[in-house]
Amino acid sequence: MSDRSDTSHGPAAVVGALGMLGKAWRELLLKHEIQHTGLDLPTLDITDPGSIAEHIGKDVRFVVNCAAYTDVDGAEDQENTAHRLNADAVGYLAEHCKKIGATLIHYSTDYVFDGKADTPYKTDHPRKPINAYGRTKAAGEQRVESSGCDFLLIRTSWLYAPWARNFVATMIRLTRERDELQVINDQHGRPTSAQHLASASLALLEKGERGAFHITDGGECSWYEFACEIMRMSGNTCDIKPCTSEQYKVPAARPAYSVLDLSKTEAALGAMPDWKKNLADVIGQMEPQSV
Ligand SMILES: NC(=O)c1ccc[n+]([C@@H]2O[C@H](COP(=O)([O-])OP(=O)(O)OC[C@H]3O[C@@H](n4cnc5c(N)ncnc54)[C@H](OP(=O)(O)O)[C@@H]3O)[C@@H](O)[C@H]2O)c1
Repeated sequence: MSDRSDTSHGPAAVVGALGMLGKAWRELLLKHEIQHTGLDLPTLDITDPGSIAEHIGKDVRFVVNCAAYTDVDGAEDQENTAHRLNADAVGYLAEHCKKIGATLIHYSTDYVFDGKADTPYKTDHPRKPINAYGRTKAAGEQRVESSGCDFLLIRTSWLYAPWARNFVATMIRLTRERDELQVINDQHGRPTSAQHLASASLALLEKGERGAFHITDGGECSWYEFACEIMRMSGNTCDIKPCTSEQYKVPAARPAYSVLDLSKTEAALGAMPDWKKNLADVIGQMEPQSV
């Protein structure tokens, strides 16, 4: 009988391989010399079960689903489209994994919670999303849980990387271009380096862990505190002023307190590195002209 951690030797399929997290996974698997295929649109469309069956073969031991509808504000008007990708397609992937005996690593979000807590959200806290994106991601979680496939369901928050559009890249650009900036100071959470997320996820898989986990950087901050640190580390100067969510209106409501509890993950892997350490590492990898 094979050990569950054998699965981590691959071969693997990375779905949504061209996205922010997908790229971190491809680099990680290359570094670990784990055989894998990176799949994304237009080759693979996970909203089509036939496309999944065609591109994810029976030899695949684990599937990493980095594909998602991630436009939080756009989802308010496009909830059906977001649901097809974040819920229905996740169900198709989970069914396929069950059929071929592969483990599914699926990603979800802090936005499945309402943000009304004042202590970090445990993995088994009841879901109560307050926006359309959160509803579709919560439905996706339920599809994974009810599929009967072998899975790791990993919630994360405030993702950033040396590539792709993300808060760190945007703040570096804005603090370089502008004299003054307003950033929200009444939403608290945990930033997450995509590279840290991928490597901690693989470590959980290698240990044979299954079920729901949270992975973020350690520590917590507001968007304002995050922005100030990004500016400091990139050497830019700008007058960043704290503002409230009420002053900075966007279509989708955001949870005020989005801190994911890490105790289950830290019991398995040890302490998560502090967000300032991961941020320095990511900014250090950015092209000099983008800082
Ligand atoms: N970004 C965050 O701050 C954040 C926070 C919490 C949780 N998460 C979760 O983390 C995961 C990764 O997020 P991310 O920011 O890395 O996502 P991302 O950069 O938006 O990448 C998603 C990738 O999936 C692809 N894709 C879209 N529709 C597809 C389909 N039908 N079939 C196959 N691929 C498809 C996209 O292609 P196109 O670009 O061509 O559409 C894109 O390459 C997601 O589950 C997300 O919900 C993200």
